[in-house]
Amino acid sequence: MTNSKLRTSVGFPLPSPQLESRLLHGLAAVEEQLADAVKSSDDFVSEASRHLVSAGGKRFRPLLTLLSAEYGDYAAPGVIPSAVVVELTHLATLYHDDVMDEAPRRRGAESANSRWGNTVAILTGDFLFARASDILADLGPEAVRLQARTFERLCVGQIRETMGPGPGDSPVDHHLAVLADKTGSLIATSARFGALQSGADDFIVDALTRYGERIGVAFQLADDLVDITSDSSDSGKTPGTDLREGIATLPGLLVLDRDDDSRLADLLSRPLPDDREHAEALALLRADPALALAQAQAQLWAAEARECLAPLPDLPATAALSSLCDYVVARTG
Ligand code: IPE
Ligand code: IPE
Ligand code: MG
Ligand code: MG
Repeated sequence: MTNSKLRTSVGFPLPSPQLESRLLHGLAAVEEQLADAVKSSDDFVSEASRHLVSAGGKRFRPLLTLLSAEYGDYAAPGVIPSAVVVELTHLATLYHDDVMDEAPRRRGAESANSRWGNTVAILTGDFLFARASDILADLGPEAVRLQARTFERLCVGQIRETMGPGPGDSPVDHHLAVLADKTGSLIATSARFGALQSGADDFIVDALTRYGERIGVAFQLADDLVDITSDSSDSGKTPGTDLREGIATLPGLLVLDRDDDSRLADLLSRPLPDDREHAEALALLRADPALALAQAQAQLWAAEARECLAPLPDLPATAALSSLCDYVVARTG
């Protein structure tokens, strides 16, 4: 790997230049293996599956795998492949999620569904899952099971989000459980994989898994706030997509919980294909105190993640994981 291919930063400040250099080299190796993993003998399949890898993305999950491998042998042979597996899994879910959410943009590019239609987007997601399984086979049955159970939770989360709360369920509790399943599960597994593959002690593997689950919920809460607050497409996605599709996120649920006969409550209770109504809902929600309450929730989950770091040794990676808690919620404004 030549230095010219190295990223210049992992995206947030790190406490040690040695750690930064290891992470940048690790991320470059992940990039190289990802590029190989999405190649097919069919040119179109290669193009469709390369589409989102090339478009960018934060590589948050592989970064967490690499940071978690710092508690054992970070150069162990399973570390980079497991980081590739979590990014491939994430990518596959993005292809599927954009079909479900009818999202036009992703990672600053046209979404696959918008470019090639739903069928190609769904099957490309499946192709990426197949490639992730292929790599997992070399990591052994425990790794395959960990991935299978993570993927199961992810699917259950996406299905439960689609179906909404059942009669008698608290909508807010249902929503938080959905976030833990659809997002916390893979982020927890990203950390767990790194620690396991590096041969870290069991108590460290478990602490990092708990940390990943909580920072994952904070991450999704923050992401849902960005969908409401961002003006341009800083996120590389189309802001306001959740409101457009009638997808309930925490600020909206808090409004509905508070008063169910306001104009905003009416707008939040249905998809908003009409541009004027969509703009009105966005403006009302941005000015609503529920936004600050949801931000506070994101901060609470980030603080809970930080508490999970207490049993870990005092390494640069621990300081980095701690600042990651601030970084994930900093985007919420
Ligand atoms: C997007 O994940 C989906 C969520 C769980 C919010 P990321 O915000 O990690 O997306 P990329 O990988 O940077 O594109
Ligand atoms: C997260 O859900 C997607 C997955 C867990 C696959 P969202 O629908 O909220 O994510 P974005 O906003 O499209 O990235
Ligand atoms: Mg989506
Ligand atoms: Mg979605």
